[in-house]
Amino acid sequence: MDLRISRKLGTKLLFVPAAGALPAKKGRRFVVVNVGIIGCGSITKFRHAPEYSSNKDANIAGFFDPQKERSLEMVQMYGGKAYESIEEMLTDKSVDAVSVCTANRFHASITIEALKAGKHVLCEKPMATSVEDAEKMIDAARESGKSLMVGHNQRLTDAHVKAKKILESGELGRIISFRTTFSHGGPESWSADKSSKTWFFNKKDAVMGSMGDLGIHKADLIRWLIGDEIVEVIASVLTLDKKGPQGELIEVDDNALCILRSKTGITGMLTVSWTNYGVEDNSTILYCSEGVMKIYGNPEFPLEIIWKNGEKAFYKIGSIQTNENQTKSGIIDLFIDSLVKGIPPAISGEDGLASLKIIFACMKSSAQGSSIRIDYPFI
Ligand SMILES: NC(=O)c1ccc[n+]([C@@H]2O[C@H](COP(=O)([O-])OP(=O)(O)OC[C@H]3O[C@@H](n4cnc5c(N)ncnc54)[C@H](O)[C@@H]3O)[C@@H](O)[C@H]2O)c1
Repeated sequence: MDLRISRKLGTKLLFVPAAGALPAKKGRRFVVVNVGIIGCGSITKFRHAPEYSSNKDANIAGFFDPQKERSLEMVQMYGGKAYESIEEMLTDKSVDAVSVCTANRFHASITIEALKAGKHVLCEKPMATSVEDAEKMIDAARESGKSLMVGHNQRLTDAHVKAKKILESGELGRIISFRTTFSHGGPESWSADKSSKTWFFNKKDAVMGSMGDLGIHKADLIRWLIGDEIVEVIASVLTLDKKGPQGELIEVDDNALCILRSKTGITGMLTVSWTNYGVEDNSTILYCSEGVMKIYGNPEFPLEIIWKNGEKAFYKIGSIQTNENQTKSGIIDLFIDSLVKGIPPAISGEDGLASLKIIFACMKSSAQGSSIRIDYPFI
């Protein structure tokens, strides 16, 4: 008898007889989480679709994109169906969870709709385009009892995981300050549109530029690495060079220089740029009382420690994904694992909100020319 695992996620998993023909993959006996993917651009093509496809506990139910040729391409590669609308996907009772992989503007409304329809959601970053919308998403998750996870995958890279372990061990003493940066030549060569017409440059759809694309990653990473919340920022968020289709400067930021201070006083610099036309930089340095930790500064050794006494340690561990070199992010496995085990998602809506607050505080600081304090109801 063919068997499948009960979809009663969050409760004890039961083996029950298969109900009809499941869209099982070749050689697979059990289907745990049936997933729909909304938005079929680059992040779906390079990450969500292949990573769900290779997860033994997930099955891709189908895809939706308003540009149907994009969902059809995904269906051809990974199976499932090309839904005609988001509504069709969300009313499909066989769908347990969805990935929201659209332009930023649609993240909140689609996520809330999906949660209300009883689906678990993995939403790409930035989780929303306003703090209020992010709060509504968290409320919708709470009210529906479904999971909301945000795609802050930087936490999952080998060097960041190792760095966190070392920092938590206390070997490096107290964290004093940091410098974290994310820069590359811009999203126009990455986005499915492959031109300066990309939504990433359009204020209405993106709301934030390099800060929403890159800064949000580093805001989440720093909060997680230092184990503390950022409570004050002062920043310059700028549009310096990136041009739109008519040769005019784009409507959103392409660079930002931000000073962040945490609740316990750890102070550092977060910088982002879409105008680094050389080699992508995704590096972080933590200056601690017993030495310095450098992450992704040296391609040969992704993690280096220089101790106060001059001794050095070099770790030859996995490199980070770049736009040109996509490797498995692990975010999908983490999402599916939390659903299968019925545990809260490792990177919560509250995490997404805290990072978003840092980005909006930096934008406000830049506009007002003053430092901005950040309040969190949960610290
Ligand atoms: N976690 C990461 O490292 C990472 C990396 C890149 C992008 N992202 C995020 O993923 C999201 C998508 O980015 P991308 O690079 O795939 O962009 P993209 O331009 O390549 O693709 C976006 C897709 O969304 C579709 N879309 C737009 N509005 C939609 C709607 N209302 N419903 C369904 N589909 C819709 C578009 O047709 C397009 O196919 C963005 O929010 C971005 O910030 C995350």
